[in-house]
Amino acid sequence: MTATVHSSEAVGKLSKARWERADFVTPADKPPQRLFVPGPTDVHPATLAAQGAPMIGHRSEELESLFGKCSAQLQALYHTEARVFTVAASGSGLQEAAVRNAVSERVINFVNGAFSQRWHDVSVGCGKEAIAVEVPWCTAVKAEQVEEALQGALADGPVDAITVVHNETSTGVASPVEAIAACVRRVSPETLVLVDAVSSFSGVRLPFDEWGLDLLLTSSQKALAVPPGLAFAAVSDRLMERAAAVSNRGWYFDFLQLDKYRQRSTTPATPAISLMRALSVQLDRILDEGLEARYARHAFCGQMSREWAVTNGFGLMAESGYESDTVTTVENGRGLEMGDLNRFLEGQEMQVASGYGAYRGKAFRIGHMGEVWPSDLERLFAAIEEFAAGEQG
Ligand SMILES: Cc1ncc(COP(=O)(O)O)c(C=O)c1O
Repeated sequence: MTATVHSSEAVGKLSKARWERADFVTPADKPPQRLFVPGPTDVHPATLAAQGAPMIGHRSEELESLFGKCSAQLQALYHTEARVFTVAASGSGLQEAAVRNAVSERVINFVNGAFSQRWHDVSVGCGKEAIAVEVPWCTAVKAEQVEEALQGALADGPVDAITVVHNETSTGVASPVEAIAACVRRVSPETLVLVDAVSSFSGVRLPFDEWGLDLLLTSSQKALAVPPGLAFAAVSDRLMERAAAVSNRGWYFDFLQLDKYRQRSTTPATPAISLMRALSVQLDRILDEGLEARYARHAFCGQMSREWAVTNGFGLMAESGYESDTVTTVENGRGLEMGDLNRFLEGQEMQVASGYGAYRGKAFRIGHMGEVWPSDLERLFAAIEEFAAGEQG
C-alpha cells in the first residue's frame, strides 16, 4: 500500500476571489456543516423532520405513491430509463446483491482501496470464483489495466462481470468509469459492468444509460445527504436477463422479485417508510437545486479543497488527474496530530476523518459532499489553520 504525494501541479488555477462566486451562495436555511467526514453526512433539517410523520401501512396507496415518486426522481439522478431498486440496507448489501444476481461463476474485482477490497471479499463470501486485480492504493483503475486483466482471464473461460468502485472513499480517488465500461464492451461484450458509486452519486454526473453500465449502486448517507439505511441501484436489462439464469440469488436481494414488486411501486418486504419520507423531501431539494448546479458545486468544493491543501503546506494523496470531487485525502505534510486536530475541531462543532488504514496519522480526509458549500469549507480551513498555528507556533 504505497502512494505518491502530489503537489501543486495537480491543482488547476483557482483564485481565492472565485470562492465568493455568486453561483455558490449558501442557502439561508442551511445550518453550518458539522460533518466533514466522507459519510454519513449532515442531513438538512427539512429532510430529517420528514421522518417524524405518522406511520402508514406498507401495502397502502400512500406508500405506493411515495415509492413511485421517489423511483421516478431517482431515475433522473441516474440519467436513466432503466429500473432503479430501493432497498432497506446500506451500500454493502447491494454490493452483495450485485454479485449474487450478476455472477454465475467468475468475476474480476478491481481493488484500489478498502471498499473495492470489500467488494472482492463479498464476491468470495458469495462463493464465486473472484479474481482480485490489485491496483496501488491512491491510484485509479485505468481502462488499460481492465483490458489486460480481462484478456488474461478470458483465456481461461468467460468472465460474468467486473466490479469497480468509482470513488474510493478510503483514498479520495475517482476511477474513469466511462472509459472502463467502453473497454469492457469492446473486449468482452457479455461481461457485465458493476459499479459502486457510494460516495459520489448525485455529487458527480454518472449517466447510467449513456455510459452503458449494468449496475450502479449507492447508499443514502453520502452525497445524497439522507440518513443511513437505504441503498439504491440502477440495473440494466442485460443484467436482469443474466439474473434469470443465475441460481442461488437468495431471496431478500433477488432482482427478479424486487423488479416484480417495483412495477407495482412497492417492495417484497416492509420498506423503511420513515427513511423513504426523508428521501422524498431530499430528492425534491436536490432537483430544486438542479443536477448540473449540484455537480458544479461539488466540483468547486473539490477544487477548493485541493487548492487549500497544496497552498498550505499539505499534499494530496490521490493520483494527479483522478482526484475525487466529493472527498479529498490530504497528505499530513505539516505533521499535525490528528486526535488533537479533531478535538480542536469538535470545539467548533466540526469533524474531519483520519487517513484510512495505513494512512492513519499520515493523511486526513475531508468529505465535501451532500450539504457542504464553499462557505462551510472556508470555515473548516480557517479552523485547521488556527489549530496548526497554535500547534506549530
Ligand atoms: C465506496 C464505498 N463503497 C461501499 C461502502 C459501504 O457502504 P455502506 O457503509 O453503505 O454499506 C462505502 C462506505 O463508506 C464506500 O465508501
